[in-house]
Amino acid sequence: EKTNLALLYDRYKDRFITFPKEKGWMTEDLYMYQGFWHQSKNVVSVETVMATQDSFKAHPSDVYLATLPKSGTTWLKALAFAIVNRNRYKNKPPSTHPLQNSNPHNCLPFVETEVLRTNPTYDNAHTPRLYATHMPYTSLPQSILDSSCRLVYMCRNPKDVFVSLFHFANSLRGQSRDLMTFEEGFDMFCKGVIPNGPYWDHVNGYYKVSLEQPTRILFLTYEDMKMDTRNNVKLLAKFLGCPFTEEEEGKGVVEEVVSLCGFENLSEVNKHGSLSIGIPNHAFFREGKVGDWRNHLTIEMGQNLDQITKEKFHSWDLLL
Ligand code: A3P
Repeated sequence: EKTNLALLYDRYKDRFITFPKEKGWMTEDLYMYQGFWHQSKNVVSVETVMATQDSFKAHPSDVYLATLPKSGTTWLKALAFAIVNRNRYKNKPPSTHPLQNSNPHNCLPFVETEVLRTNPTYDNAHTPRLYATHMPYTSLPQSILDSSCRLVYMCRNPKDVFVSLFHFANSLRGQSRDLMTFEEGFDMFCKGVIPNGPYWDHVNGYYKVSLEQPTRILFLTYEDMKMDTRNNVKLLAKFLGCPFTEEEEGKGVVEEVVSLCGFENLSEVNKHGSLSIGIPNHAFFREGKVGDWRNHLTIEMGQNLDQITKEKFHSWDLLL
């Protein structure tokens, strides 16, 4: 019997196999759809994006957490989940919290995976519904674009995103395929050929809308979140509609969320086991630092990437 993913692949493949194609980072090829590269045969892929566009219905109270892979998706999922559900777990033993027992990816789904489910993730009573997505802004389903639902975008320095992606991709390639060389990966990144990329177009898409509609899109950076986690978590909670009360602040609830979702804790919880799709939990936790690119890129590579970023982000005051 075919899996839902295989059925979707069959349904959409006649359309996307004609699209421009490039060699992928992990296992499958990348296809260019609506100006962006997407994997195939994956839970977040060209076929699940197309199916999501065809059938997904947004609710006005939904919140979407949008990122490029390796920009802090796992961290943002954990933070949003911990913030929104804090009262549900406050009187229970801390060790029973879902984030102490499971990967953040199991706690908060990608909207792209809803089309693969027999039953939707959220019952109607759960408000707000929280979804992550890697979709570029312009490819979001019309029902999201037309609704008043809010979005959080987390962006990360492209040099660190590249280094993170390179290590992630090679760790997943395993023995099935030759490892990618650093130079090969760098060229592909600079050409924009990464899952859900080009990097700059993805960031620009959300950044532009966040300037036009600041109450609709909260634009965060991984670097700010690292530098001042506490204040960014408070900002996120307010945006998600559940600000910390004075009483909570006094009791140290903000700090509890910060340390529950911190790299040290989550990397320890996720040392073993794997997601249902087979990716080991620890693959999502490598260094968790700002500026690790300095340990990997040559000076020239760093300058080249900075030059591209300057050209692409010219008029915007993005801290990169
Ligand atoms: P590095 O490879 O630089 O360490 P994503 O979740 O979008 O796949 O991004 C993964 C990156 O976020 C990895 O970066 C990972 O280590 C880092 N990361 C994961 N959880 C984190 C956390 N709780 N705090 C900070 N960084 C985290």
